[in-house]
Amino acid sequence: MARATNPNELTDVSEAQIAVHWREEEYEQPSEKFKAQANMRDPRVFDRFTTDKFPDCFKEYAAMLTWFEPYKTVLDTSDAPFWKWFVGGKINASYNCVDRHLDTYRSKAAFIFVPEPESERDVVITYQELYDRVNEVAALLKGLGLKTGDRVTLHMPMIPELPITMLACARLGVIHSQVFGGFSGQACGSRIHDSRSRVLITTDGYWRNGTLVDHKANADIAVRTAKELGQDVDNVLIWQRYSGKSSGKTPLVAGRDVIINDLLKQYKGKKVEPVALPGEAPLFLMYSSGTTGKPKGVQHGVGGYLAYVTATSKWILDIHPDDVYWCMADIGWITGHSYIVYGPLANAATSVMYEGVPTFPDAGRPWRIAERLGVNIFHTAPTAIRMLRKLGPEEPRKYKYHFKSMTTVGEPIEPEAWRWYFDEVGKREAAITDTWWMTETGGFLGTTVPAIHPMKPGSCGPAAPGIHIVIYDETGKEVGKGSGRAGNICIRNPWPGIMQTIWGDRDRYVKTYFGKYNKNPRSKDWRDWPFMCGDGAVQAADGYYRILGRVDDVINVAGHRLGTKEIESACLTVPEIAEAAVVPVQDELKGRVPEVYIALKPGVKASQDVIDRVIKANEEVIGKIARPKHVYIVPDMPKTRSGKIMRRVLASISNRRDVGDVTTLANPDVVEHIRTMVQGKDPVATKAELPEDIAKFGQVE
Ligand code: WTA
Repeated sequence: MARATNPNELTDVSEAQIAVHWREEEYEQPSEKFKAQANMRDPRVFDRFTTDKFPDCFKEYAAMLTWFEPYKTVLDTSDAPFWKWFVGGKINASYNCVDRHLDTYRSKAAFIFVPEPESERDVVITYQELYDRVNEVAALLKGLGLKTGDRVTLHMPMIPELPITMLACARLGVIHSQVFGGFSGQACGSRIHDSRSRVLITTDGYWRNGTLVDHKANADIAVRTAKELGQDVDNVLIWQRYSGKSSGKTPLVAGRDVIINDLLKQYKGKKVEPVALPGEAPLFLMYSSGTTGKPKGVQHGVGGYLAYVTATSKWILDIHPDDVYWCMADIGWITGHSYIVYGPLANAATSVMYEGVPTFPDAGRPWRIAERLGVNIFHTAPTAIRMLRKLGPEEPRKYKYHFKSMTTVGEPIEPEAWRWYFDEVGKREAAITDTWWMTETGGFLGTTVPAIHPMKPGSCGPAAPGIHIVIYDETGKEVGKGSGRAGNICIRNPWPGIMQTIWGDRDRYVKTYFGKYNKNPRSKDWRDWPFMCGDGAVQAADGYYRILGRVDDVINVAGHRLGTKEIESACLTVPEIAEAAVVPVQDELKGRVPEVYIALKPGVKASQDVIDRVIKANEEVIGKIARPKHVYIVPDMPKTRSGKIMRRVLASISNRRDVGDVTTLANPDVVEHIRTMVQGKDPVATKAELPEDIAKFGQVE
């Protein structure tokens, strides 16, 4: 298999060669100015976090928090792999994010809320005001009978009442389960059922792309769905988008629905003592997709999680209290939990919260916000970067903001998009951290420490302190650095941010994350329990990791694995291309072959020439093995509300299957357009089952 020396040969290309075909990029160095001010700039920090110093090294993280009672055991492994961090200690997340800052920062902004309509003014919430509001909401929740250990489902958009509600829950030790606001009522309902929540907290409306969405309607569907599944909801608590006035048309259900803004009047000025919780008490659930259709309730615990996101916000995001930090993610995802709410607030940050779509009303919006508010740390995802680049490649130049650092998260970023982010958005001044991690891991795993390591476009970097990464092949053998071979990326050791379990499903937790590489299920030794992250990755000779995507997003062409991101990156080297998505298609001879969907930059006309050059780019950058069977030029990619491309839908179309239910997508109309283009006018789709790898393809997105 590994005979070929010429990567352009048709079939004689080894996995090793394929893996290295995303060309090694030049490093970029952080500026001296950035380094001089950084929270963590001592390369010897890694000496303090070697495996022989594990787990005590993480005392340094716990020390960044305020404990009501000190912990006795750093890591309890007695119920491996259900790790318990900082056992014996007593702590409260709400106290750490709010109360403890009052002495120094009471009149400093904790949040600056930017509504989507540009005609509306920002809402500034100081730490004192956050304290007042969190206390009142905690008193209200307590008044409804909620207590430590109860679960509450939140289905809220990006409005300040979301973090306020989360912190109020945390104050009481009530476990919050925030469902992304863009999810449907049904999706919310099934999560209510799984978590056994009796209370749903929602909003009457919010702005999205210029429309005031009637969100309460979703609550009715959610409650009905939960009931059908066997879970009753006693109360739906509704925040008003405009206090004192209704923003939706959906009527209240008597005896069940309560307007929080009205009820809060009874709790004006009320204070609630933060509950001193055990270090390992659960803090929240975050539902995430896995390889089955049933989302898993990823459970995070208060002490470990908070320590981890606090430390990584300080060292990796480099947040200082006098910075203005803006993470454009949605709090409905893990990035928002860890790096809009808990991590930044524990560091007394000033955090910008934007309600709406980054490109509303135009692609200059983020840069206007950054300029006006003096944002100096910016955090977003590759999908937003590509979108902003597509719609307004020169917009950043028009605004006088200056970022000292920027983050990218959520998917591999193609070097081409990275370069635009660095050159245009960051104006070559800002350090970029490409942070690789996932819902399950609480915080960053693979990343540079921005003042210590140079950046390499397309690679996340080495690892955060105390994260010991290993890549295993299918048989459990270590894949060495610089080998050019890809494998399953795992973490050798537990770390404080790691999930505690899957809510209500211990077996699934063990099986999903440890099943493949644990050899002794009875072992209490953490060394026997490497955590399988679910991504394919390759480690370059310099130690940097490049993430190839979920293991189920890999296309196996004639027995060779091709990272879909590598093919997409190759497509993006054609200058006219704005976005590219690759899906596996069944092929008689080769098993699977890739098909490519591309969206062009504005003003570019579709032509055979562009298609030819996409094919050529794949051949040149990767090899003929990556030659797509078809290249389709589409007006837009089918996308989720969070902006991720739904490759699964494209895979169904390419494989002549029914696309299934696409109503939850951001742009369902484009699906039929693409289907007709690929399958022809008359429906040819069958309901025949897809082979498992294709059926699961893109599911995690
Ligand atoms: C992918 C988001 C490449 C990865 C924080 C992971 C990334 C999945 C990166 C988790 C990155 C996240 N580079 N891929 N910097 N960050 N991913 O749970 O495939 O929504 O497994 O958490 O996103 O997605 P999740």
